[in-house]
Amino acid sequence: MDWIKIFNDHTEAADALSKPRLLVLRGRRICLALFQEKIFAVQDKCTHRGDTLSKGTVNYCGEVVCPLHQYQFNLKTGREREQRSDDLECFPIQENEGGIFIGM
Ligand code: FES
Repeated sequence: MDWIKIFNDHTEAADALSKPRLLVLRGRRICLALFQEKIFAVQDKCTHRGDTLSKGTVNYCGEVVCPLHQYQFNLKTGREREQRSDDLECFPIQENEGGIFIGM
């Protein structure tokens, strides 16, 4: 697995992730989101009908809510709350003194 730096530090990430944000990396579209000061990365394409999750919101349960039909995907596991569609692919995030990295 390659670790790719996406932010210099947590403050920069927190500022950028006041709402979900699209990251395009190596041809992959990834939704970055912040919940309770933790950074998460999941595939951006909703597994229901393919809308862009980075245009959605994060709810109080730590789920990204799709803007089109409001399916709710757990940011940690990728699982849709009622399992109405497939799980999202999740990408690991690593934070250390060198910055914040995504594993691909
Ligand atoms: S396209 Fe995302 S919930 Fe339908």
